[in-house]
This record gives sequence, C-alpha cells and structure tokens, in this order.
Amino acid sequence: TAVLVLNGVNLGRLGTREPGIYGTTSYQQLADLCRSAGAGLGLEVEVRQTDSEAEMVGWLHEAADRRTPVVLNPAAWTHYSIAVADAVAQRTADLIEVHLSNVHAREDFRRHSVITPYATGVIAGLGPQGYVLALTRLAAG
Ligand code: DQA
Repeated sequence: TAVLVLNGVNLGRLGTREPGIYGTTSYQQLADLCRSAGAGLGLEVEVRQTDSEAEMVGWLHEAADRRTPVVLNPAAWTHYSIAVADAVAQRTADLIEVHLSNVHAREDFRRHSVITPYATGVIAGLGPQGYVLALTRLAAG
C-alpha cells in the first residue's frame, strides 16, 4: 500500500529548530525513519515537506483522488488553516494527524486544531515515534 507522509510549514528545519521542544532528529532522519519503518510494515512510504500552503492542499487533493492513506503533520496550519482543513475533509482514506510535541502542554493556541474534526485520529507528544505508530495503524488497515 502506498502511504503519503506530509509535513507542513517549518518542519524542514527539524534538528536545529527549537530542539528543546522538537528534539534533535533532523528532517532527513525523520524521513528515513518513516521510509524504513514503512518498508518493515509492507508500505510504500513517500515523505514530503512544504512551507507552501497551496502545495500542501494540492498533495491532499492528490491523496483524495488516489485514495491514498496519509500521515499529516500540519504544523502551524493545524491551528488556523481552513484551507488545509477543507482539503483534509475531502479524504477518501484514513488520515492520521501527528504532532511531535505535546500541543496540549504548550501555549493555549496550540490546543485547538481545525484539522482534527476531519482526521481519523491524532497522535501528539511522542516525537518521531508518533509517525511510526501512525504508519503501524495504517498498515493494520
Ligand atoms: C507541531 C506543533 C505545532 O503547534 C507547531 O506549529 C509545529 C509543529 C508539532 O509537530 O509538534 O510547527 O505540529
């Protein structure tokens, strides 16, 4: 099964970006982890990152058209992007929302997600392992 792992704005800077909050795993290491864990689960995992909301919306349309399951870290868009939420709402397969940090233990504005109402489920606060857990769930069908 093909699975898309989609990462939003600023996540390309993982490793150097606020390591106290997001850890020292680089984006490249996170992408490698997703691909290798996916391969072990029998999934063909493609990992992408963009700082462009338009590009992310296009990828979500692609997933909807192809019925591709998605692991999505919407990053800051989580909290305000109705455009990303509307694109997620069109999903035709499971979509798991993932956050590296525990968004409920930080600023108040991070506690609200406009994406969650349209997601299959949410994983937050477990770091890169959260992605592996999401892939494990998608592999289980
Ligand atoms: C994040 C949490 C968001 O609040 C933040 O804007 C991010 C990353 C996370 O993975 O913990 O960029 O989605």
